[in-house]
Amino acid sequence: MALADLATPMAVRVAATLGLAERAGDGATAAQLAAETGTSAPALGRLLDHLVTVGVFEQDGDRYRPTALGQQIRDFLPLLDMNRAGGRSDLAFVELLHTVTTGGSAYKHRYGRDFWDDLDVNADLRRSFDAQMAWRFTSQLPQVAERFDWSRFPRIVDLGGGDGNLLTAILLAHPSVRGEVLDYGDSAAAAQARFVAAGVADRAGAISGSFFDPLPPGADAYVLCDILHDWDDDSVSKILTACHHTSGTVIVIEAVRGLGSGTAMDLSMLMCFGGRERTIDQLAALAADCGLQLRATTTVAHDRTALEFAPV
Ligand SMILES: C[S@@+](CC[C@H](N)C(=O)[O-])C[C@H]1O[C@@H](n2cnc3c(N)ncnc32)[C@H](O)[C@@H]1O
Repeated sequence: MALADLATPMAVRVAATLGLAERAGDGATAAQLAAETGTSAPALGRLLDHLVTVGVFEQDGDRYRPTALGQQIRDFLPLLDMNRAGGRSDLAFVELLHTVTTGGSAYKHRYGRDFWDDLDVNADLRRSFDAQMAWRFTSQLPQVAERFDWSRFPRIVDLGGGDGNLLTAILLAHPSVRGEVLDYGDSAAAAQARFVAAGVADRAGAISGSFFDPLPPGADAYVLCDILHDWDDDSVSKILTACHHTSGTVIVIEAVRGLGSGTAMDLSMLMCFGGRERTIDQLAALAADCGLQLRATTTVAHDRTALEFAPV
């Protein structure tokens, strides 16, 4: 039951969503926290009591404050806060039976729209997702920019490059490189703003569009960073075929299965997007069917591998 109990994970997530650790500071009563968060004081008190039981909060008289463990909630808000993209998508796990029964997305079943469409109609959700992507790459970003010789490619297009986080790091590390991000509207606009703020706007651009449409031609390399695992094999084939038509080098960066990723992330990708975590061999086989040959693999961060493909 310790593996299956939902009371504690949900209590932690509600605490994160309400910002209880930050609000409680050195100690606050349930009534004070309820007044601040617009919640029911008796119910919030019982939530806090459970968080005390599991060591996330401690109690001094009628005042509650986060323990050292509870303080860590703040470090994981992108994944725990139910109003942010990461926390919201994890909640769709309650519909896992739907996914297992039908093979379809639990996220769509729960929220009525697929994940990307949901971000499209909710700018705050989209911003929270872009921020989550930057957050999850905090330590890896300099490594990905520096451990791979991007200077071999004078012009790069980062497909699904979000708000330009990775491309900015690459351009800052490699002054001879130019590039563009291709992503949905709000993210493309955010990427443009990031390029200006980082002082690389003279070498960078943002294109609002979909990688399921014909790709911008003429680039030396097309980057797909944490893109393919979001998609089923048919969609991956469409993306890779579009890349093949450009004749450029294709650089796939993923936490490949067995080298940074495992079954939990695989199930998460299936539940949310109908995607999957793939081994290097599985990625190479899919690419080969699209006329792309695996030329090299490079470990670019402790949990990320760059796979370099060239048109056959
Ligand atoms: C998992 S995120 C990865 C973002 C970025 N590559 C990174 O590694 O930080 C996937 C990205 O793909 C974008 N995306 C999803 N479908 C897309 C499509 N059809 N065309 C272009 N971008 C898309 C999303 O908006 C999101 O920014």
